Amino acid sequence: MVSLAKRLDDIAPFYVMDILSKAKALEASGIDIIHLEVGEPDAADLPEVAKAGSDAILAGKTKYTASTGLFELKQKLSQYYAKYFDTQIKPERIIITPGASSGLMLALSLILDPKDTMLITQPGYPCNQHIIELLGSNHSSMPVDKTNQFTITKSLLQKYWPNNLKGLLIASPSNPTGTVLNNKQLELLSNHALKNDSQLIVDEIYQGLTYNNKNITALSHSDQIIVINSFSKFFSMTGWRIGWIVVPQHMIEAADKLAQNLYLSAPTPAQYAAIRALDDDCIEQFQTRAKAFKARRDYLLPQLRKLGFIIDQPCDGAFYIYADASKFTDNSMEFCKALLDATGVAITPGADFRGHNANQMVRIAYTCDIPRLKQAVKRLENYLLKR
Ligand SMILES: Cc1ncc(COP(=O)(O)O)c(C=O)c1O
Repeated sequence: MVSLAKRLDDIAPFYVMDILSKAKALEASGIDIIHLEVGEPDAADLPEVAKAGSDAILAGKTKYTASTGLFELKQKLSQYYAKYFDTQIKPERIIITPGASSGLMLALSLILDPKDTMLITQPGYPCNQHIIELLGSNHSSMPVDKTNQFTITKSLLQKYWPNNLKGLLIASPSNPTGTVLNNKQLELLSNHALKNDSQLIVDEIYQGLTYNNKNITALSHSDQIIVINSFSKFFSMTGWRIGWIVVPQHMIEAADKLAQNLYLSAPTPAQYAAIRALDDDCIEQFQTRAKAFKARRDYLLPQLRKLGFIIDQPCDGAFYIYADASKFTDNSMEFCKALLDATGVAITPGADFRGHNANQMVRIAYTCDIPRLKQAVKRLENYLLKR
């Protein structure tokens, strides 16, 4: 039997998948499960977007496109940045990818050599570290926690910026903390990276889902930043597997070459669906959905605090609340499993995201409507009171 590659030893599975499969098994046995564990918007596809995708299939638009994507989609994204973010991006700098997952792979492959070091935040999206490791490179962690409101500060940058750092990868809004960087912070990061000859990569996959801030993009600060984005979150199109990255001008050719080798092209019908999703009438509907997420956040946050979860950060982006459950547990995986068994409420243990006191943290995704969230709160309340 052929042995598996050694590099797999360093890649941890997602604990949330354990919770999800347990939740699905309970559901199959007839138990009512409230899913607050998976990072996926609950809304269905907009019918006009689904139609654009199926029209493309029926019209035979099912062959490869150019590796960097349909020019029409790049043009629409360029107009999107101009109209909604007041930022001019040439369509050529936009590379269409099969989701942000491939975007992350592409962006990191563009800059990392084996043994290079990339700085990431912890807690953070677990795949970042794994992709860096797959490329034979190293990661260094910058801890963000409740003492700094899960955000990046000048002193953190000074303390944790190693010598010869190749780049910094951050997400704003962040998974799992829901933290949003403001323009001043983005400018600080951009200048710091430029000064140190390092590449700043900003994952903006939750862009558009911000509740106290103006919608912003790191791209407005420098044309040297790489930005990752996707149609999975604001546009609720997870299964279409479609995203994009924006690269500095001098990386376009290399990105094209890499895209050819990594995935040839993003799914063609999904590219046509994405073109439709960027029309103003669709954007308006996505903005309405973002307002519904805000209402859910406004309901859930004080309720969780009342129950005894410690949440000091504002949670003003994405659809996550990263809560300190130290009042209830020192082992959040066991806590999540027991909670699921006893109440049918599924949430994610902090261990998935590493970082400070991960075993006391849980991530709660408000991907259900408010009546359902109310049921979840009631079940949590009964369970925690009985303990
Ligand atoms: C921060 C972050 N980046 C990237 C991704 C990957 O998203 P997708 O490949 O669906 O676009 C996710 C998914 O949850 C995420 O949370």
